[in-house]
Amino acid sequence: MFPQNFLWGGATAANQIEGAYNVDGKGLSIQDVMPDGLQTPPTEGPTDDNLKLEAIDFYHRYAEDIALFGEMGFKTFRFSIAWSRIFPRGDEDEPNEEGLRFYDRVLDELEKYGIEPLVTLSHYETPLAIAREYGGWSNREVINFFEKYCRTVFERYKGRVHYWLTFNEINSVLHFPFFGGLEGTPEEVGPQKLYQAVHHELVGSARVTKIAHEIDPNNKVGCMIIAVPRYPLTPNPQDALKALDKSHDDLAFGDIHCRGYYPGYYLRKLKNLGVELDITEQDRDDLTNTVDFVSFSYYMSVCETADPAKDTAGQGNIVGGVPNPTLVASEWGWQIDPVGLRIIMNEYWDRWQKPLFIVENGLGAKDKLVDGPEGPTVEDDYRIDYLNQHLVQVGEAVEDGVEVLGYTTWGCIDLVSASTAQMSKRYGFIYVDRDDDGSGTLDRYKKKSFDWYKEVIATNGESLTK
Ligand code: BG6
Repeated sequence: MFPQNFLWGGATAANQIEGAYNVDGKGLSIQDVMPDGLQTPPTEGPTDDNLKLEAIDFYHRYAEDIALFGEMGFKTFRFSIAWSRIFPRGDEDEPNEEGLRFYDRVLDELEKYGIEPLVTLSHYETPLAIAREYGGWSNREVINFFEKYCRTVFERYKGRVHYWLTFNEINSVLHFPFFGGLEGTPEEVGPQKLYQAVHHELVGSARVTKIAHEIDPNNKVGCMIIAVPRYPLTPNPQDALKALDKSHDDLAFGDIHCRGYYPGYYLRKLKNLGVELDITEQDRDDLTNTVDFVSFSYYMSVCETADPAKDTAGQGNIVGGVPNPTLVASEWGWQIDPVGLRIIMNEYWDRWQKPLFIVENGLGAKDKLVDGPEGPTVEDDYRIDYLNQHLVQVGEAVEDGVEVLGYTTWGCIDLVSASTAQMSKRYGFIYVDRDDDGSGTLDRYKKKSFDWYKEVIATNGESLTK
């Protein structure tokens, strides 16, 4: 069912696991001023209630954590490099050696267990100085800062990292501009500035794709987008058109990364919004450096309606849409749809004919630590069920002929949530003793799903229950 060499593993992001936010020369990133995730506007500076400042202290416990990933049989581990560890402000000439050394150590551990690194270059972690002093990605100069940072890590980790992702969920900046270092809501920022920032990110992504290939022809670079099947709420063609229009907002990012130019529907949208992009000849040339594969996160599907009376956008997520009456939702209102994963995989493959990599999928749930025969554990059958159902659909997509490189569950070890900045929204196979108020020992415990996933990997998916 699953291809040989399928890259099974787990995924994380620096700001959600590392902690050590001001250690060994690290500069502040936008996450250090987002104590409530997306729930409230960013603060002036770091505040004590921000769980990400310490997170799960992966910075000091990486060896123990990677040993557990090794024990599960991970073939790959997705993590991000914190840009502000390497260039604390983003605009320096020289990198911070201590920051580079940390990732050397992480790579050493991964090599011990034969785990292939999958590295995100920018996972909602723009250095704060770039946001506050340069206007974030709305400033063209930031492309050069990003290029310098990427060149530095491509050269440093040459031959040790082969899979790179440029921007995590690059389409999310349209919903939450501060991810790109722009202060304010999309309405406050306004379409002209927002889409210019998006353009700069797209050029940056393409430019570093080219550089990655030049530095090491064995490098494989992927874009990373939020995948959301958008179904029409009713058979009314107006609902179908709305679903198409909203899907285009996501698909544009894949189209540009895979084709190397802006699609017509996107240009029309910009025109309707009154946006006039500053695009140079160099930009157009850069954009032609297309990706090797398409990676995406998948958590939910939504419905779209053209009827304003039924449009209750924003059901606990940043992707909009309205609830699907046939589906149930997680405790955080994310609607669970395993078949939607098969559908979107087919759609992406049909459209782009590039290998896919599912780099995030999982269930955020409240876990209860209980006594087990070998010590504290969590009986997380709900998580096993969720992952099993989704993986069965990945298998179906493989049977449909979709080429898939691998699958990494989100938050393979409990981490701080991105949207709500909570510890209690847990995704892991490994429980971390830390609570929303910051208390806890940070000790790690294996959940029931730990052994389950280990078996799935060992059998290359044969142990999944259809
Ligand atoms: C994705 C992000 O949006 O979803 C992750 O890439 C994030 O950083 C994940 O953690 C799950 O979202 P949340 O809000 O439950 O942490």
